[in-house]
Amino acid sequence: MLNSVGQRARSFFSLCPTSSRTCKLPRARCLSPCSTIRRGYANVANTAGKPVTKQKPYYVTSPIFYVNAAPHAGHLYTLLLTDILKRWQLLKGNQNATLLTGTDEHGMKIQKAAEKAKTDTKAFCDQHARQFQSLAERANVKYDRFIRTTDEDHKAAVEHFWRELNHRGYIYESKHEGWYSVSDETFYPESQVHLILDPSTGRKLQASIETGKEVEWTSETNYHFRLSVFKDKLLQHYHDHPEFIVPRTRMNFIVKEVESGLSDLSISRPSSRLTWGIPVPGDDSQTIYVWLDALINYITMAGYPFASKEAAEALWPPDCQVIGKDIVRFHCIYWPAFLMALDLPVTKQFLTHAHWTMNREKMSKSVGNVVNPFYAMDRFGVDVIRYYMAHDGGIVDDADYDNGYIVDRYKKGLHGGLGNLVSRVVRGKKWNVRESVELMSNKGEKNSNEMLETSRKHTTHLKRVPAQVQKSMDELNPRQALHIIMDLVYSTNKYFQESAPWDMAAFPDDKVQKELKRIIYLTAESIRIVAILLQPFMPEKAAQALDLLGVDPAWRRFMYTAYGADIKYGSPRIDVGKAGSAGTLFPPLASEF
Ligand code: MSP
Repeated sequence: MLNSVGQRARSFFSLCPTSSRTCKLPRARCLSPCSTIRRGYANVANTAGKPVTKQKPYYVTSPIFYVNAAPHAGHLYTLLLTDILKRWQLLKGNQNATLLTGTDEHGMKIQKAAEKAKTDTKAFCDQHARQFQSLAERANVKYDRFIRTTDEDHKAAVEHFWRELNHRGYIYESKHEGWYSVSDETFYPESQVHLILDPSTGRKLQASIETGKEVEWTSETNYHFRLSVFKDKLLQHYHDHPEFIVPRTRMNFIVKEVESGLSDLSISRPSSRLTWGIPVPGDDSQTIYVWLDALINYITMAGYPFASKEAAEALWPPDCQVIGKDIVRFHCIYWPAFLMALDLPVTKQFLTHAHWTMNREKMSKSVGNVVNPFYAMDRFGVDVIRYYMAHDGGIVDDADYDNGYIVDRYKKGLHGGLGNLVSRVVRGKKWNVRESVELMSNKGEKNSNEMLETSRKHTTHLKRVPAQVQKSMDELNPRQALHIIMDLVYSTNKYFQESAPWDMAAFPDDKVQKELKRIIYLTAESIRIVAILLQPFMPEKAAQALDLLGVDPAWRRFMYTAYGADIKYGSPRIDVGKAGSAGTLFPPLASEF
């Protein structure tokens, strides 16, 4: 039952909806039966399971994956970006940062795939959902819930959402004729399809111009959502929130789309065609459209339907939703319109990314040109694949996946770059990192005027990096952030090599010995800062580097990336071993592949 705070909050914060129009009476004064129905649904408990705190946790989501086939590297990419954003928040000290991922299990596409596999549909979903969950676990994705659209609380959330839209007068029934793509789970108007010759079968078929996926003609009566009435509200929202969709190119695309006009959206299919889905409340001759069902998953996690105003604000709305460029329209037009229709806050930002291709063609299960992400991680290691995908993966432009590039990036950035640097510093026989840190923890020494010009330049660069990385991450550009971190690795290697501290060791001169310690300190400090910043990208390798350097686990947050912020480190926490031994951060590759 609604508690009194919740009831009061509702009456103050919303107008009462009726089934045919938006009623102008405050809910408290409205006598329409819809408030009773609403109360009934509000009984569904807050399933977020999160304590209601004042400061809303950072909430980030990945798309939920279709379970019609096994995961591929493109899916892993979208998951990794989501995980990097969450781990970045943890690094900054936002310990309640929350990540949602899961599977999209209803709809014609899944129904047909299960039929083809001659498997019971739910068993088919269970099998594939497990694979996506294993992918998240194998890739070290720190998710808080793996949601499935077949989960009971999600079904209840969808039913409630539908009823709310209906009671506010946003749903009507009418005949729909048009082209439907099962693969895209989308209706296309005549202007967006064309006749093509399927190269593999020689068959002529109608296909979507945008995605190339086959469409079939359908004529049916179904329910529609009044999307068209949201045109101005959406445009206003885009105008007021220029960072709503990142990158800017996709924001511009969406604005143009909406400016050119919105048609109402078909949001159900006849149950005679589509059985695998959630029946329309009160009309089981219709099944809810899979995209409406799927999008609601994000708010199911937040405990929708909300029992109180406090519960409504505990997690909702998402701070960032990560999506591929192929699903921008659904997320950045339909989804905010659905939320606006119910006066629910909309997502703060979308990070939209480009695709991975193979030989310049989109990696996709239906084309069959996919990379198995489990094999890739077995072959190169989890953190190496995380690094490669974040480093090379496209935000604006597509990226071509190639094992040759993985080998190149490994050799340059990891084995030859960071790994080599760590090994030379922590295993060096002619110096001691701890002694250097101790000496340089003295302010006078750290800022001494006698410092070599190369050391001064390196210090300046080092001091700037954390803020630059933070800026890129705030702009939702993890790729750029990683490039900035790696530039510091390369410049530190250069500084170390050119400074040649090994040649200084033999000189007893006090000044030379101090400069030697400064070089070791600056190099160690660079590694420390790099490794702290790398934690969202390569959690295990970064932790190993910090262990080798002897950084206390409690001192690995972003606040410690300030130059000189840690004066305790320098004594390894793990055996540094010999070069090439098991403890080596990035050993040489066994073969060149
Ligand atoms: N089920 C919908 C999403 C519903 S969210 C409410 C869906 N599923 S999907 O499995 O086809 O795709 C999931 C995500 O993987 C999307 O963000 C999509 O862009 C991404 N990718 C699929 N293929 C990809 C590449 N080749 N490269 C990068 N990302 C790719 O869409």
